[in-house]
Amino acid sequence: MIVKPKGSYDIYGHEMKVWQYVERVVDEVMERYNYGKIRTPIFESTELFHRGVGDSTDIVNKETYDFVDRGNRQMTLRPEGTAGVVRSFIENKMYGDPNQPVKLYYNGTMYRYERPQSGRDRELTQFGVEVLGCDDPAIDAEVISVAVQIFKLLGLKGVKVKINSLGDTESRNNYREALIKYFEPFINDLCEDCQERLKKNPLRILDCKVDAESEIIKNAPIMLDYLNEESKNRFMDVQNYLDVLDIDYEVDPKIVRGLDYYSHTVFEIEATVKDFGANNVLAGGGRYDTLVENLDGPKTPGIGFACGIGRLVRALEKEEVRLPINETIDVFVLYVNKTEKEYALALTQDLRLNGFRVETDYMNRSLKSQFKQADRLNAKYLIILNDEDLVAGEMQVKDNLTKEVAMVKEAEIDDYLDLNLR
Ligand code: HAM
Repeated sequence: MIVKPKGSYDIYGHEMKVWQYVERVVDEVMERYNYGKIRTPIFESTELFHRGVGDSTDIVNKETYDFVDRGNRQMTLRPEGTAGVVRSFIENKMYGDPNQPVKLYYNGTMYRYERPQSGRDRELTQFGVEVLGCDDPAIDAEVISVAVQIFKLLGLKGVKVKINSLGDTESRNNYREALIKYFEPFINDLCEDCQERLKKNPLRILDCKVDAESEIIKNAPIMLDYLNEESKNRFMDVQNYLDVLDIDYEVDPKIVRGLDYYSHTVFEIEATVKDFGANNVLAGGGRYDTLVENLDGPKTPGIGFACGIGRLVRALEKEEVRLPINETIDVFVLYVNKTEKEYALALTQDLRLNGFRVETDYMNRSLKSQFKQADRLNAKYLIILNDEDLVAGEMQVKDNLTKEVAMVKEAEIDDYLDLNLR
């Protein structure tokens, strides 16, 4: 038997209904906040992610699915959505659109060659937003609030918003120097990766999964102490706008994020539901004011976040949130002989065209097992056909809950169902 690749999933049945509901809520909230949907390729040139996500990140160094295509091009399955959206923004000259800022959202699969564990998959689905062309701190607050509203609308209660600032380039350079000075004497106590990170991007050490609990990391200098005046003020503005939007948050100086492109605001939203496990970050994001330029576009600020739908669905399950998922059908049409069957097929088709959720039998079932099948599908009404009624131009309609039966004229069946179901 051929089985699915490690770290990937088949989603179907009830679970798929949950996913579809979540995706509908995402679309709905994005519409309210005026974000336009974008779909970019699942594969892009490898160079995009090296220059976009960053050479010093685990995602690019260890986790990409790379391949050479038949035309000898070096390609990569996207490990995240931001680089592709920014590439598209530049390629399609969206910076020239009079409608600024450009507010985009996406929903799609990403690929990371990680060690599979709960909440850490190799094929993952993210929805996310990117706002390009705006550095007003108010938009930082809006982006965070989009994620929060989606979680709220879904009925998720246990979430915590954590924010931090990585400041501007000057602040980060000062902080980087302070970190190098601090970590250098401990270099041999750090894991191999962190020894490498100290040379390339010492901020990444703070994000290390191996050394996370070490006292050396816990006592390291914090970014907030190295923000220059301008960056500090900007961070205060973001917090002020979050207050204006009534979003609860806490400042967590440990949030540095695992991608190279961030500056100023960074944030993560955690699931706080009990027993969720270690991979509890539902959404993460931040500002990236140099990424567009790094990818050869005009200087353009940007900010966004992405949320792993798999983790979000698991949080909803763990919290036992009841979602308004319809697991019923409106009508099941039952019949016995061939003429009734033809009538049943035409009626089923007609009712479906009129917007009802309808099923009939295709398995040659006895009448008794058609009743059972209707129950399995949670049919609200049964239409039980027989020749004599049909000759008289009517049909038996049974309310499957009260078990009441009514004789309904053929010409009035739509109105009857409409009246009783809607
Ligand atoms: P990220 O933090 O790498 O950020 O991923 C965002 C979210 O995707 C995580 O919080 C998590 O819910 C989910 N996720 C990531 N990796 C996995 C995995 N292996 N298995 C399951 N879920 C996962 C980004 O991807 C940035 N592009 C976010 C962003 C957008 N920043 C600015 N704009």
